[in-house]
Amino acid sequence: MSVHVNKEVKKVTTHTLQRMKAVGEKISMITAYDYSFARLFDEAGIDVILVGDSASNVMAGHETTLPITLDQMIYHASAVIRGINRCFVVVDLPFGTYQANSKEALASAIRIMKETGAHAVKLEGGEEVLESIKRIVAAGIPVMGHLGLTPQSIYKFGTYTVRAREEAEANKLRNDAKLLQEAGCFGVVLEKIPAQLAKEVSESIIIPTIGIGAGMYCDGQVLVMHDMLGINTEFKPRFLRQYLNLYEQITGAVKNYIHDVKAKDFPNDKEQY
Ligand code: KIV
Repeated sequence: MSVHVNKEVKKVTTHTLQRMKAVGEKISMITAYDYSFARLFDEAGIDVILVGDSASNVMAGHETTLPITLDQMIYHASAVIRGINRCFVVVDLPFGTYQANSKEALASAIRIMKETGAHAVKLEGGEEVLESIKRIVAAGIPVMGHLGLTPQSIYKFGTYTVRAREEAEANKLRNDAKLLQEAGCFGVVLEKIPAQLAKEVSESIIIPTIGIGAGMYCDGQVLVMHDMLGINTEFKPRFLRQYLNLYEQITGAVKNYIHDVKAKDFPNDKEQY
């Protein structure tokens, strides 16, 4: 089977993503938080980089995504933007910057767009955040939704287990996906929900769905870079495919370096001036 990697496209836009869904080409998305990795992922041909608030976990070491601030997200997103050429960059609005009211949500989204050069923002929730989404979209800023397991609400859920297994929650999610589309979202992340529900939702809306732990029927997939590259070895959910074991490779390389320094083998006479 030949797999199409979208490298000939000059710049990925919301229209590119819409077209990819329409023709059945899957969308590839990965998180990044700095210049160097963004550059690698862009050169590899990734369609979308998400500057996720998972930076709170994987970059800052917090247990949840709640502590990260708007200034910190802006710092990460600005670095990512300096590393890319063609992919589309979406930035998470962090917890506490859009829930209070739609004016505050718009002000937060504007700061991200003005101060980073990113292409879109993402926020979590359905009906509860609809006014904010409409206001941001009306200002000309593309918005991506996020339904299912929404980590900013972890203390409401209590656990990181699969969401929307019960009919009432599944029905709310079906309805929220339609509301997000009507409000003008260009896409929606579906996190940790049953594959059949994700299939139903993906078929019921024309905007692309991007899954993480939501199965094979989504229009695209997203993974956190630290998980798929094996930098985080403790996190092994069923949905994760680990493409590298950087933990082993990096600790191995650094152990070799320590050994060479201690053994007075590094630097040698060719490695000095
Ligand atoms: O913050 C993040 O990395 C995310 C993904 C899990 C979708 O929102």
